[in-house]
Amino acid sequence: MKVFNTQKELEAALDTARAEGKKIGLVPTMGALHAGHASLVKRAVAENDITVVSVFVNPTQFNDKNDLKNYPRTLDADCKLLESLGATYVFAPTVEEVYPEPDTRTFSYPPIDTVMEGPRRPGHFNGVCQIVSKLFYMVRPDHAYFGEKDFQQIAVIRAMVKDLKIPVEIRPCPIVREESGLALSSRNALLSESEKRIAVCISQALKTSVEFAKSHSVKETHDLVCGALNATNGLEVEYFEIVNGITLQPVTSWDEAEYIVGCITVYCGARPVRLIDNIKYKGGE
Ligand code: PAF
Repeated sequence: MKVFNTQKELEAALDTARAEGKKIGLVPTMGALHAGHASLVKRAVAENDITVVSVFVNPTQFNDKNDLKNYPRTLDADCKLLESLGATYVFAPTVEEVYPEPDTRTFSYPPIDTVMEGPRRPGHFNGVCQIVSKLFYMVRPDHAYFGEKDFQQIAVIRAMVKDLKIPVEIRPCPIVREESGLALSSRNALLSESEKRIAVCISQALKTSVEFAKSHSVKETHDLVCGALNATNGLEVEYFEIVNGITLQPVTSWDEAEYIVGCITVYCGARPVRLIDNIKYKGGE
């Protein structure tokens, strides 16, 4: 496995691979890798000749400066894990390498980016589109792998790929959970042991709601999840929306769409830590 810090080195290696007709898979990450990332890398390694993993804490997608400052940076440990998983190249550029000039491009994909995370994290999806489009131009991957925990992010990236006609296939990968059900996230490292035990209630409430939804309305299902979580000491639901899995617009009945997903964001603990999760009620890929 080779680690590149510059676009020039990365592109030279990939030009050779491409000339040999090799398939290239890209796993974009911000590092602090865990088993969720490992599952994306394993799949990319299995489905491509060359797997590039980018490790870059992208400043333009953080709307909170403290969040950016506190974001865990563990490149050495990340590289060890990636080597053991069979990644071919790690791309770990500096901020100056990626953004020699401020990125003034704006991306807007309403209504997909105007719901849920969109208004609550102004500029976040714009920053995600800035970095992901740059990575797509640099790596020119055949396939790119993203975790379904960030359900809305995948929808926004798909809209951008369609808009910019970027020839890449987006391959979403299922959420990886701890045995307790807690969705894996780099932010879980910020939780104390007792907060982690409380955070488990999020996936439990979502799981329970799938059974409940079979005999109750969308509103009743929504209220069940919010009621249970808001009644738990240490948890506060920021939003729970039951949406069409393609358009991300809220549904009011289970017959309204073929694919229906519940997306939730919950504040957990004293700090508090913002956790996201989602669950499929109907359909899907
Ligand atoms: O999901 C993430 O970790 C980031 O948003 C991504 C896609 C790597 C872009 O920085």
